[in-house]
Amino acid sequence: MPNRKRPQMKFKSSAPGKLIISGEHAVVYGYPALSAAVSLRASAEAIPREDKKQTFKSNIADVAVLKLAAEKTFSAFRQPEQGFSLRVRSDIPVGSGLGSSASVSAACVSSLLKFLGKKKNKEALNKIVYETEKEVHANPSGIDNTTVVYGGFIKFKKINDKFKIRQLRKNRFLPEFILVQSGQPKETTKEMVLMVRANIDKNKQILAKIGKVAKEFISDFEEEKFNPELLRENQRLLERLGVVGKRAQKIIHLVEGVGGVAKVCGAGGVKAGSGILLIYCKDLNEIKLLLKKEGLDFFSVSLGKEGVR
Ligand code: PMV
Repeated sequence: MPNRKRPQMKFKSSAPGKLIISGEHAVVYGYPALSAAVSLRASAEAIPREDKKQTFKSNIADVAVLKLAAEKTFSAFRQPEQGFSLRVRSDIPVGSGLGSSASVSAACVSSLLKFLGKKKNKEALNKIVYETEKEVHANPSGIDNTTVVYGGFIKFKKINDKFKIRQLRKNRFLPEFILVQSGQPKETTKEMVLMVRANIDKNKQILAKIGKVAKEFISDFEEEKFNPELLRENQRLLERLGVVGKRAQKIIHLVEGVGGVAKVCGAGGVKAGSGILLIYCKDLNEIKLLLKKEGLDFFSVSLGKEGVR
């Protein structure tokens, strides 16, 4: 009798990356922010094993997030009786403001919940991913995990440790953006958040102003308006907050020089790069030529994509 192998059972899930269109850092202090799920994704698959081993593999160097996701999933539900191999593939640049850790974590938690035979429940999933984010970052607002779990465009606010989440309808007049890498930050999100907190007396007013700009941007978004000036203002305030490095500032000023707008869209960074920059210009071709001339990597991305699946 030929020894026919049974097809391998796989519990698959994927989650998008995210970017913050307006309101980063201030969102940690209870101000509203607008974020969007992006078209880059992380995929995970949990493959049951014959033995009791748990193995972790990822195309992005660190498997710590995978282990953490497994630990938090099992402590929220139950330990699995069977072993498994958890594998991850992600297209999302690490540590660049695109929510790589939240996305990897959401994809892992979701595939492990399927492995445990749990029904899909985004609220429970979001809670577990937030638990992993709390260990990776210092006092995260919860916007990263919420955006990658629910997808689309998210108006987010944290009040007394509770998330106020509204999924917004796509603004038909939201223009096309491109993203440029200003360099991977040397600092982690945790370090950047702590840096802002270390000078909270000086930064309080700036954070309140970022909150105001984000509120205005969100209300425009809901009325299907788009005012690039608000993004420029948001960026200036982030510079005053001290989270934007020289390399990113140089790119931003080049973009502004040809009539465009660019801003950091995550925690930022000052020692080296500040992560991904979001760029808008009426004439994106002009910006593309400029970035090419400067030898800078850029890519198009669509916003408002599907959350975890
Ligand atoms: O750099 P990212 O993708 O982790 O974004 C962090 C956003 C912050 O507002 C700086 C922190 C937070 O928890 O909201």
